[in-house]
Amino acid sequence: MKKVFGEKPKFAWSNTGKLVLISNRGPFQYKQSANGLRRVHVVSGLVSALEPVLKVRKGLWVAWSGSESLVDGLRYADSQDLKGFLWREVPLTAADIEGYYNGFANQVLWPLCHYFIEKCHLRNEYWRTYLAVNRKFARVAQAEIEWPDMVWVHDYHLSLVPAFLRYYKSSLKISFFWHIPFPQRDVFRILPWAKELLKGILGSDLIGFHLPAYVENFLGCVSDVLGIEVDFRHGELEYEGRRIAVRAFPVGVDPAVFQELARKETVIREANQLKQELKSELLALSIDRLDYSKGILERLRALELFWERNTEYLNRLTFVQIAVPTRSGVPAYRRLRKEVEELVSQINRRFGRQGWLPVHCYYRSFTKEKLAAFYAAADAALVTPLRDGLNLVAKEYVASKTDFKGVLVLSRFAGAAEEMNEAVLVNPYNIDDMEEKIKFALTMSPAEQRRRLLLLREKVLQHDSLWWVSSFLNSFPRENLHQKASVLNPGYTGRYAGEHLAKGL
Ligand code: UDP
Ligand code: G6P
Repeated sequence: MKKVFGEKPKFAWSNTGKLVLISNRGPFQYKQSANGLRRVHVVSGLVSALEPVLKVRKGLWVAWSGSESLVDGLRYADSQDLKGFLWREVPLTAADIEGYYNGFANQVLWPLCHYFIEKCHLRNEYWRTYLAVNRKFARVAQAEIEWPDMVWVHDYHLSLVPAFLRYYKSSLKISFFWHIPFPQRDVFRILPWAKELLKGILGSDLIGFHLPAYVENFLGCVSDVLGIEVDFRHGELEYEGRRIAVRAFPVGVDPAVFQELARKETVIREANQLKQELKSELLALSIDRLDYSKGILERLRALELFWERNTEYLNRLTFVQIAVPTRSGVPAYRRLRKEVEELVSQINRRFGRQGWLPVHCYYRSFTKEKLAAFYAAADAALVTPLRDGLNLVAKEYVASKTDFKGVLVLSRFAGAAEEMNEAVLVNPYNIDDMEEKIKFALTMSPAEQRRRLLLLREKVLQHDSLWWVSSFLNSFPRENLHQKASVLNPGYTGRYAGEHLAKGL
């Protein structure tokens, strides 16, 4: 870590304003260890998506530190990784983390939006804490923001922040990106706080989702739940005297980073070593957070069936699962870890031979450089979530395959499948389909692998991370730009959702 500040450091922003990112997690988290404060890189699609932003804009990243705020005096940080951005902590207590993060974000919104309704715990207490913590984020952020800064709020943890910010500072340019699926209206209406959540998001001028289908679902909910007229065709609506744009922008990766890594001598050497160590002719790879939405158990069952039906692949195909521990404060995630461990041991007991194990599961995270070696070594990537907003691993695998050898097996229920239809598409709920498609992938001719990867690469290059950032930030409704909203919108009454939400606290 280069610098950690207690007080706000002096920082010169340009006079066109700074970009203010607000998300639950920033690019790193802090952990207390025996040797003091330790900074750990955060593993998440959101962080991977936003890191390239730091290369092109200067600004401030407002986020939680990842643990209970026991870090005396740590409020701001600046480091080489942040490339001229400044990090600002939103301090959370243990009770905040329990109700807001483990509770409402990860036991209400996450399962609801991924269609795991039976995993939803609709508790008033969670909602109250979520509301209070969203207000806390908005309070911390608003003290740092001044016109003409551009505010970009991220994800389901912070859906009320746009409305709170609008209440505190009506003239702000506020945008919001929802990184996970947005469910169909019948599912969304299960949420007892559906109205408040939508009003919270509508504090923004610009709202983004990965796919047109999520935009349609969101607009459908706004129309049904709030009774507001929406323009589905143009993705627009009027709310509280403002014109709001709602659009789809599938997030991308920085292909140059993965191409460079794939050509690096150390990475190539490590990829070769990996295959030797695994004693395997063929390698199938999956990289996920250890999350039930990722379909890890279903994938393992399909592989078990594959080895059972195709015994000639025993000793020939090894499967590597990188399963990054996540959200261990939530019981469903702790249970999943146990279930995965049990299934992996069962498969290894059943098919393992002297000196060869069919499944290697790493319960840890790796750097991008190490991941590049795994991508290079993998003959097939099995990206088979039961439901995923987009999935960056699929795009990273394609970007890494500079020799055009390899096959991407992709779930139809990953947002990435909408664009990447040259992948081998599977239904992850259907074990037979998965088993057949794994065989199809492993027996695909080199020419066909190349044909598909060339087409996929075109798409990954076209919709890369910089395209995502610039097309998003350039989509602010014109009339809301460069002018103070209160001057611009004479119809503005100041009665944003944040106002009455705030009154309730
Ligand atoms: N990742 C990483 N190290 C790991 C595993 C994953 O840096 O050991 C990164 C991976 O490269 C990708 C992100 O974590 O950029 C995961 O994003 P994805 O969209 O696939 O899933 P999410 O975790 O956001 O649900
Ligand atoms: C998904 C969410 C992110 C989140 C990430 C990791 O990608 O969209 O907002 O940061 O999962 O989850 P975690 O709970 O560890 O932040």
